[in-house]
Order: sequence, then structure tokens, then C-alpha cells
Amino acid sequence: MSQFTLQSGSLYCEDVSLADIAAKHGTPTYVYSAASIDAAFREYQTALYGRPHLICYAVKANSNLAILNRLARLGAGFDVVSGGELERVIRAGGDAGKVVFSGVGKTRSELALALDRGIRCFNIESESELRQLADIAGELGKTAPVSIRINPDVDAGTHPYISTGLRENKFGVDASTARRLYMMARDSDALNPMGLDCHIGSQILDINPFLESVDFLTAVINDLSKEGIKLSHLDVGGGLGVSYETPAPKIDDYIAALLDRLSTMDLELILEPGRSIVAMAGALLTKVEYLKPTSQRHFAIVDAAMNDLLRPALYGAWQEICPVKPRSGEVLEWDVVGPVCETADFLGKARPLSLSEGDLLSIMGAGAYGYSMTSNYNSRPRAAEVLVEGATTHLISERESVDALWQRESIPPEGSL
Ligand code: LLP
Repeated sequence: MSQFTLQSGSLYCEDVSLADIAAKHGTPTYVYSAASIDAAFREYQTALYGRPHLICYAVKANSNLAILNRLARLGAGFDVVSGGELERVIRAGGDAGKVVFSGVGKTRSELALALDRGIRCFNIESESELRQLADIAGELGKTAPVSIRINPDVDAGTHPYISTGLRENKFGVDASTARRLYMMARDSDALNPMGLDCHIGSQILDINPFLESVDFLTAVINDLSKEGIKLSHLDVGGGLGVSYETPAPKIDDYIAALLDRLSTMDLELILEPGRSIVAMAGALLTKVEYLKPTSQRHFAIVDAAMNDLLRPALYGAWQEICPVKPRSGEVLEWDVVGPVCETADFLGKARPLSLSEGDLLSIMGAGAYGYSMTSNYNSRPRAAEVLVEGATTHLISERESVDALWQRESIPPEGSL
């Protein structure tokens, strides 16, 4: 159930009107529903009840401390892809012992940091990375818990930029390389091979590719067990899509299908969902600055831009755009665009809307890969973020100040011309 509803002709998040949030905090502002985040996380928990599991929320989807803290309190573990994300999790009150560390390019210092913090598992993506980790763990007198990330060569049927499980992608290793790496790990005092990992992509709308990859992983696990390598967990990654435009599978149907496929396997199940927990919990509030009808198109120029929400520009993504106070005037097809000097700077194209200058719009499904992909392009300060809990709002990140834009910059002494 969406927590964004029309109440007396005005869009609300839970019990708070978006117009009130805009009046208080300005625009552009990200608004998140706490109830929606809780509900999605609990749907995973309920569906997995009775099965040993750990839900490692993918921090990259939305890494605000308040959201990480909320998920930690609900019992989440975390999937991180950088030292920065690991430190965020710890700062937010998350348990390092429930963290898995993914990504193809973990640096020496990130590996050392994660060893020092005592994370749950390293998801290893290459032989060089495994050797580097063994080296560092040996120096620190530690044993590093590892999973090897398998690339099952499965087509997730998603946008090519977020498809990760095909042989031509940079992620994971093939089954025969994995087998060799497990032998290396088994024979090393500095490494403990404890799991198997996979992630085939994001915004996946069909359950079948997940099942196909799980079958592949099961075969690898059986093969390893014949070699005497007994693993304790299977990490199936994240990737479940959400209903931006076309319907997505429900979380519990997805988990039921996974559990059915894994019914004979007794390993602990790790999942790394990001989008399916936070996407539909968020909206980006923006104001129409100017209406600019031309002979070709109708442009509605708003105060949010591609630096605030990159998904439409980068992937051609479609997200619903709703008026905060729907009006009954003439409906035209508007291209909702930002002020950034690029033609890619659009948030939606040909949207049937009745608009006036000064209207507020809400870009829906913006809770995942929205704020976390923001930038300062065109020297635009980052938007504010607000978390709604019932009738209460919390400002969980302030709008960035203009001064902050150059806080880390400096001008060399004069005379160098
Ligand atoms: N685990 C790993 C190793 C990942 O690379 C990702 C996402 C996830 C988990 C979480 O996947 P999710 O459940 O959120 O689909 N910026 C893109 C999405 C990039 C996803 C990258 N990896 C977008 O806005 O669509």
C-alpha cells in the first residue's frame, strides 16, 4: 500500500501534506515514508520466517544515516561497496558483524578497514582481490571470511547499465575460476571460505532469472562440497524490481519462489535488497518555475534537475510525476525538465498534466538511487531530505549551503600566472 495518498485534493505522505513540507523546507526536497520502509523490510522478514537468513540492505540505494539507523533497528544487516558506506553503517548504529562487502575494486585500505571493523564477509570478485585480502589479513594476523561472487551468465532482462550477471560484465568470476579460488582460500590460513555470492542486476521484473542463477549456484555448491569445501551461507544478492511503470513481482512471491527452489539446501540465506525496500517510500518534491510552450514541445521547467535525480537522464528511467494539488484546468503533454544546461536534463517527458507556474510536483518512486546519486553539477547544492513518521516530520539532511560547494577548494597563491 502506498503511503502517498490524495487527501482532500492534496497529496500527503502518511499524515503530512507535501505542500506543508515544501512550505517549511523549500524545494527540491526528498520526502520518505518511514512506514513504507518498515513495511517493505518486514515483508522480507515475514517471507523468510523460519529460514536462517540475513537481510543485508544495499546501502547504495539510499544511505542517509536515519534510514540506515531505522533498518538497523529492524534487524537489518548491510551490503556495502566502499569504506565510506561501511563507516556510514557503523555511524548509523549498524552492526559491522552483519555487513557484507561487495564490489570489484576494494582498495587495500578499504580491505584493512573492513577487517579491522570485523565485517561478516567479503564478497570477492577476482583472484587479485583474493590474494590482496589474504596478504593484508596475514599482516594483521586475522582470518578473512570470504564468499566468491559467481557470474552465472544469466540475462536479467534489465537495462544494460544495471545488468551485472552476464559473462561480458565486469562482475564476479565464472564457475571454474570460483572453484580454483575456493581451493586457494581453503589452503590459506588468512582466509576462511564461508559463502557463495551472486548478484545479477537491478530493477529485475521477472523472477525466472533469479531462479536460473540459483540453480547455477546450487550446482557450484554441490560441486564444492564434493571437494570437501562446506559453505555456511548463500548470498543471492539484490535486484528485485519495483513498479515504476509496469508491475513488479511482490517481495513475498519472490522469496517464496526462491525458498521453493532452495528447499533442499540448508545454508543460511543472505539477500542484498536495496531498491525494493526504499524506492516506493520516497518522492522528490519540486516546484514549477516556468512554463515554456514552444512550437514543438511544452516544457515545464522545475527547480529539480538531473543532479538531484539522475535516473531519467542516465537510464531513460520513467517515474510517475504527480501534481501535489491536482487542478482541473486544460491538460497538456509537458516535458518536465530541470535548469541544467544539458538536453539530458529531464525528469519526465510528455506527461499529461494541468500546470501553472508555482505548482508543486512530486516525482514518485524516488527513494532508491535518488539522493544517493546526486551531484553538485552546475554548482547546484544538494536537496534537503525529510523523513515522515505518521504526522511527524524529521529533517534528516539539511539542504546544502552554497558555501559548502567550495569548502574543500582553495586558490593557489597569486604569482603563479
Ligand atoms: N548487491 C550488489 C552487489 C549490487 O551491486 C546492488 C546494486 C545491490 C545489491 C542492490 O540491488 P537492488 O536490490 O537495489 O536492485 N543506479 C541504478 C541501480 C544500480 C544498482 C547497482 N547495484 C538505478 O538507479 O536504477
